[in-house]
Amino acid sequence: MKKALFILVLCLLVEKILSQPRAQVVEFKCGTLLMHNASAAVSILVAVMENLSGLMRTTGFGITKGGTGPDSYYGLGQCYGDLNLLDCVLCYAEARARLPGCFPYNSARIYLDGCFIRLANHTFYDEITGPKDKTICGNTTTKDNKFQESARRALQEAVTAAPNNEGFARPKVSVSGSKNESAYVLANCWKTLNPSSCRACLDNASVSLTKCLPWSEGRRLNTGCFLRYSDRDFLNSIQRGGGSKPSKGVVIAIVASSVAVFVIGAVIGLTIRKNMILQRKRRGSSDIVKMSRTLNDSSLNFKFSTLRKATGNFNDSNKLGQGGFGIVYKGVLADGREIAVKRLFVNNRQRASDFYNEVNLISTVEHKNLIRLLGCSCFGPESLLVYEFLPNMSLDHFIFDANKGKMLNWQRRFDIIIGAAEGLVYLHENKKVRIIHRDIKSSNILLDAKFRAKIADFGLARTFQEDKSHISTVIAGTLGYMAPEYLAYGQLTEKADVYSYGVLILETITGRQINRVKNNEFSDSLSDSLVIAAWKHFQQGTTEQIIDPNLGNSNSGYIKNDILTALHVGLLCTQEVPSLRPFMSTVLKMLSKRDEPLPAPSNPPFIDEKTMEVNDNFEYSSHPFNASFRPSVATMSHSAFYPR
Ligand SMILES: *[C@@H]1O[C@H](CO)[C@@H](O)[C@H](O)[C@H]1NC(C)=O
Ligand SMILES: *[C@@H]1O[C@H](CO)[C@@H](O)[C@H](O)[C@H]1NC(C)=O
Ligand SMILES: *[C@@H]1O[C@H](CO)[C@@H](O)[C@H](O)[C@H]1NC(C)=O
Ligand SMILES: *[C@@H]1O[C@H](CO)[C@@H](O)[C@H](O)[C@H]1NC(C)=O
Ligand SMILES: *[C@@H]1O[C@H](CO)[C@@H](O)[C@H](O)[C@H]1NC(C)=O
Ligand SMILES: *[C@@H]1O[C@H](CO)[C@@H](O)[C@H](O)[C@H]1NC(C)=O
Repeated sequence: MKKALFILVLCLLVEKILSQPRAQVVEFKCGTLLMHNASAAVSILVAVMENLSGLMRTTGFGITKGGTGPDSYYGLGQCYGDLNLLDCVLCYAEARARLPGCFPYNSARIYLDGCFIRLANHTFYDEITGPKDKTICGNTTTKDNKFQESARRALQEAVTAAPNNEGFARPKVSVSGSKNESAYVLANCWKTLNPSSCRACLDNASVSLTKCLPWSEGRRLNTGCFLRYSDRDFLNSIQRGGGSKPSKGVVIAIVASSVAVFVIGAVIGLTIRKNMILQRKRRGSSDIVKMSRTLNDSSLNFKFSTLRKATGNFNDSNKLGQGGFGIVYKGVLADGREIAVKRLFVNNRQRASDFYNEVNLISTVEHKNLIRLLGCSCFGPESLLVYEFLPNMSLDHFIFDANKGKMLNWQRRFDIIIGAAEGLVYLHENKKVRIIHRDIKSSNILLDAKFRAKIADFGLARTFQEDKSHISTVIAGTLGYMAPEYLAYGQLTEKADVYSYGVLILETITGRQINRVKNNEFSDSLSDSLVIAAWKHFQQGTTEQIIDPNLGNSNSGYIKNDILTALHVGLLCTQEVPSLRPFMSTVLKMLSKRDEPLPAPSNPPFIDEKTMEVNDNFEYSSHPFNASFRPSVATMSHSAFYPR
């Protein structure tokens, strides 16, 4: 197990050599008008973003519409042409994570250095320029006339080339008389513009942008396009399509796989060493020696070609699911063994040594309710993790499906709830390393042949924190699975997992998804989340009404009591005040000692229907323009984290 994780580190270091997602936010602006009907908008926006995510993940571009009449919303997302698909997903995830910050205003625009998203309540796909367009000049270094001349030429080249090249151009013009200096330009129109509109947009942008000269750096953010120049080479050498084109990384990979394992170890060891020195975060050379030595154990190291073959070249028909960290495919090895292969969306370029430290900790984790990592492919063009294959997919495939839900009777569901709790107790309370999962949800509870629960993605959340890609899967609704204090303040304790686990219990019992409670089904208001609906029913003594019909029919009184106890525990876990939520070990006791009286649950986080603010002292949406309130972790302490 430990060795597998060392190999994982090496995978990610190899990936470092590849491209850059350029996920820095350049400009984030919310509209100033309120939504027509904020409570109706939540589910519409969730659907729009859901669709947009799917399109971005497959093509790097998407437009989508949701809702009707005055409650219509339109979205556009696009990654710039030099980002490969994996980097695109990272950039998009960063952008998307910020968008809920605009709620309840009716539009949002976010420009990153690698991608763009816009949401609005009108069609804007053919808009070119507008009053909110902006020029941002780098203002620390000025350049000489020769550079300025090159920059102007590069901008002109871009404006000419892009309209006939799907709106994208990235010229580089070297500065005359200088050996190493060039002006780099990136131009990108949104794909909804035709060539002449694109031309008009870039013409407008370049006029504004040249006013940034003589500064060394400038960006123009137009309604219909993005234009940037710099004296630094910020462009990616890899074109969209990811690993299909040979890159420096791929070449290294090919070379690496054909030479002796010992030599690879040395080469990678040196890369690691160099990175650590660069980052001035060296942890001691013995780590490096240890890491390169583990490469000798080749049984953990799968070849990229082997895994590509096993998954039918990552064929969509083998796709098992999609998590925050990557797409998972089913694979069959030549010897008939079934595996699950996760194609990672990670990008751990900056924090190799911290990452190493993390993995070192997580590698000590092993439990029957946690999924097992079998190994990984490090030397291919992509990082792939190999897990044991679980034939029954994940919990969400069953409980949210009226037919498949019949396969999970109460005993099975109860065992799953208990199994997940045991896995979490282990993560939270084991002596070697305490891990907060952060992304507990039904699609992360996998089921083996006997429908036993195994938690997926543990440790990854913590380890890949810096990428924040997991946030993209979490911020689906306003609250969803996320504990309110985590969502609002990034305040993270194991009680955030307890909250998500409580949601999981409620979903398992009701067969309803947290953000998809339909109107009048068992709640009086569309904006009631599952948690609030369940709490209201509990208060009114009508909880039996919300039990999944698949559980309800053959109920003996004994089973019904069990179900109600579990639901009660779910409500205790989703209480608004973190300190009132029980620890996971207590949860386990509550669930197994069924006859002991439970404390009455206090209220879950309420949402005021008019303002959609979390109705408490967290001041969740009182600063919609402030993007910095989102979850973020600054230290490795286990107790509490605050935003930067
Ligand atoms: C967009 O929302 C604003 C504010 O709610 C409203 O005044 C406007 O009419 C809406 N536009 C469309 C096209 O529905
Ligand atoms: C807002 O939307 C909800 C749900 O669609 C609906 O019940 C409510 O009447 C709407 N409010 C207004 C003012 O249109
Ligand atoms: C989302 O995508 C599906 C399939 O791609 C499409 O049928 C549906 O209409 C889309 N929904 C929205 C809100 O765009
Ligand atoms: C660019 O477009 C904006 C907004 O329409 C306009 O105010 C500005 O004058 C235009 N600039 C040029 C150089 O055409
Ligand atoms: C550069 O821009 C930043 C942000 O706009 C500003 O705070 C800073 O004062 C500027 N510096 C100079 C030298 O103009
Ligand atoms: C180019 O080379 C000069 C000296 O040879 C050096 O001072 C300068 O920093 C270099 N510039 C870049 C962008 O590498």
